[in-house]
Amino acid sequence: MKIIAINASPRKNGNSAKMLDSWINGYKSVYPDVEVERVDLYTLKYTGCRSCFSCKRKNGPFYGTCPVKDDIHDLVAEVYDADAIAIASPTYFGNINGMLHSFLERAMFSKNTYHMNHESLAPKPVPVTMIYTCNCTPELAENFHYPNH
Ligand SMILES: Cc1cc2nc3c(=O)[nH]c(=O)nc-3n(C[C@H](O)[C@H](O)[C@H](O)COP(=O)(O)O)c2cc1C
Repeated sequence: MKIIAINASPRKNGNSAKMLDSWINGYKSVYPDVEVERVDLYTLKYTGCRSCFSCKRKNGPFYGTCPVKDDIHDLVAEVYDADAIAIASPTYFGNINGMLHSFLERAMFSKNTYHMNHESLAPKPVPVTMIYTCNCTPELAENFHYPNH
């Protein structure tokens, strides 16, 4: 069993990372032999989706995959093989932060289709835990519609 824990904060031991580590420890307490890969996105050099559409060319070599060769090239493929993923992000301006947004563009667009029912090209469903941290009260978060974002 393999799980991937992604920290989108620049702070390796900040609030999001601490929550993420709790998730890892919870997993380990139930599955002591679980293989854990923890990734700090800010240590990696990458961009968001470049809109090359190689992943959409049905007879091309990259159909359903992202061809961009940078530091997250392997990770965007590995997340689909994992048994579970957790992603922790600080709230920046009421939303996930930019590094996570760019990562999600890369990881998700290649598996999206324009078929009528939008079926996914992912080989299997992967359970994802999203962890958000922020600096404001629950009431303010509600007023600013954070739960919707
Ligand atoms: C650029 C920036 C924007 C932020 N915007 C918000 C915000 O809109 N709402 C909020 O509640 N906190 C905001 N914060 C505070 C962080 O979300 C909060 O302190 C978070 O827990 C930090 O996580 P970390 O320790 O994992 O980096 C912002 C922080 C930064 C640096």
